Amino acid sequence: MQNIFPFESRVSPGQRKHLMRQEPRLVWFTGLSGSGKSTLAMRLESHLFQQGYKVYLLDGDNVRHGLNSDLGFSAQDRHENIRRVGEVAAMMLDAGLVVLCAFISPYAAERTFVRNTVGFDRFTEVFVDCPVQVCEERDTKGLYAKARRGLISNFTGISAPYEAPAAPDVAVRTDTASIEESLQEIVQHVVPLLELKDAPRVVASV
Ligand code: ADX
Repeated sequence: MQNIFPFESRVSPGQRKHLMRQEPRLVWFTGLSGSGKSTLAMRLESHLFQQGYKVYLLDGDNVRHGLNSDLGFSAQDRHENIRRVGEVAAMMLDAGLVVLCAFISPYAAERTFVRNTVGFDRFTEVFVDCPVQVCEERDTKGLYAKARRGLISNFTGISAPYEAPAAPDVAVRTDTASIEESLQEIVQHVVPLLELKDAPRVVASV
């Protein structure tokens, strides 16, 4: 970028980690609409918060009402949706937070982009796996019915693709396991990753 010179903060990542007493991490939930991403991410957020972690959830339905209210559901707009969220998540990780993201994020390349943006060692991919038939039966928001009637175009699983993760860090099947069981599986994987590893006790000079 021309004529713009980024500078480094005088507060180091290690100093922030020490203050926050946790390892920053992005837990990325991907799956079809109605698969249970938001439910699981909200439950994980409450659980971690109650355990004293500094955690924040970014969810597609909420982010699309604010930061990304100018975006629709074409492949290009979905790409921009995930790109912006990835950049925001990277800043939140730099601030020392545990960040949860719940987005359909149907394209493998976008999820790889986020993994690269925040760094491989700070990214956990959770695949919320549920057959489209079951999501459609649930149809909690009535959107599948609308998509079938042609009232919504580019609807993931109906008229737009979903590329399932090839090697997710955690995969839960919400059609066969209960929310509680899926949550436990995610908690068991994620919590050990948040344990503070060595962080310098030096205080930033101003
Ligand atoms: S993403 O594909 O760009 O990652 P995102 O997670 O932000 O999607 O938003 C998905 C939510 O938008 C769905 O849960 C659903 O409520 C709503 N939605 C509206 N139109 C569509 C559509 N065409 N395809 C999928 N979800 C849609």
